Amino acid sequence: WWDHVQQAPKDPITSVTQAFLSDPTPFKLNLGVGAYRDDKGKPVTLECVRRATEKISDCEILESTKATTKSKFVQDCVKLACGNDSSVVREGRFAGVPALSGTGACRLFAEFQRRFYPDSQMFLPMPTWSNHHDIWRDSQVCTGTYRYYNPYSKGLRFQALVNDIKNAPDRSFFLFHPCAHNPTGVDPNYEQWKEISHIFKIKNHFPFFDMAYQGIASGDVERDATAIRIFLEDGHLLGCAQSFSKNMGLYEHRVGCVSIVSRDDKQATAIKSQLQRIVRAMYSSFPVHGPLLVSTILNDADLKALWEEEVKVMVDRLISMRVTLRQTLEELNSSSSWEHVTKQVGMFYFSGLSPEEVNQLQRDFHIYMTNDGRISMAGVTSSNVDYLANAIHEVTKE
Ligand code: LMR
Repeated sequence: WWDHVQQAPKDPITSVTQAFLSDPTPFKLNLGVGAYRDDKGKPVTLECVRRATEKISDCEILESTKATTKSKFVQDCVKLACGNDSSVVREGRFAGVPALSGTGACRLFAEFQRRFYPDSQMFLPMPTWSNHHDIWRDSQVCTGTYRYYNPYSKGLRFQALVNDIKNAPDRSFFLFHPCAHNPTGVDPNYEQWKEISHIFKIKNHFPFFDMAYQGIASGDVERDATAIRIFLEDGHLLGCAQSFSKNMGLYEHRVGCVSIVSRDDKQATAIKSQLQRIVRAMYSSFPVHGPLLVSTILNDADLKALWEEEVKVMVDRLISMRVTLRQTLEELNSSSSWEHVTKQVGMFYFSGLSPEEVNQLQRDFHIYMTNDGRISMAGVTSSNVDYLANAIHEVTKE
């Protein structure tokens, strides 16, 4: 048995952590995985999460309240994505289930897509989070790509993106990162989202938003949902994956949600029953603690305000590290332009470093990042930013 099983290829993101951990050097930097750290390089438990944990510690979860807790959580997630006073919520035009964070949410959607549109494909931005390719592949849904990023400007390749959306067959599925695009840190602006939404209407495409970083682009959770709100205003139906890993720091709790905005409540009921059927055969049901934690924060005005402040603190730190990194690189009189360090947003700086330069940073400076040159700004602190800038300068100078 099992003699034919070969070693699986390494995951491009998690393997960075493994390589980092096996490096015996005391001074080393892990800029691989996107997981927030404070300025001392330590993981953070948000105060709002601590308080919510205390608040729910004596609440007894009865068999009869489990289902209500989960459907309340889904409604809270949809409100967060679509807006508090969205007609989607008022009219019950959504179907959703709690999911194992963003990955689980994407996977459930991919399974759902295959069941009901077996011949469809999912168009992914190029580049995108590496796991998107794996999720849709394992769900046996073909993937296509659309152009997104311009490596020369290190910004958006808007016209090419528009052309690819226009040239895709009508009624195609497209995955978007509504904010803080992973890995590029490059997002369309308001007018560009409007234009994308307009073309979607003409082409009758279906948008699926993977929102793993709501709040982490601008520091404002409402503002980061702009793309979704534009699509809703324009009357689209859409799908959404949400994760509370980054914006609530609930990484290991694995709390997320997949939801689908539907035509009416009748359609929503049918879609929900099918999502539940997929869940039932995969892992039966979702633990209730994470949803309860999130709903407690979102429904308590003080805790919600505290959460929003804490998101802002994280984002301000990421931005200040971008500013210092750029300034330090510029002071080193490098001939390259470093404007994009501060133009890009969110957790990642997509540096444009080549795989050779990435290897050199790892070998000579013990700085670890994904092979595509993505730097997790979450691992950059006031005490290592100089070291990082000098190392980048060393490997990029002519
Ligand atoms: C990342 O891109 O580093 C994060 O989304 C974490 C992960 O699981 O890949």
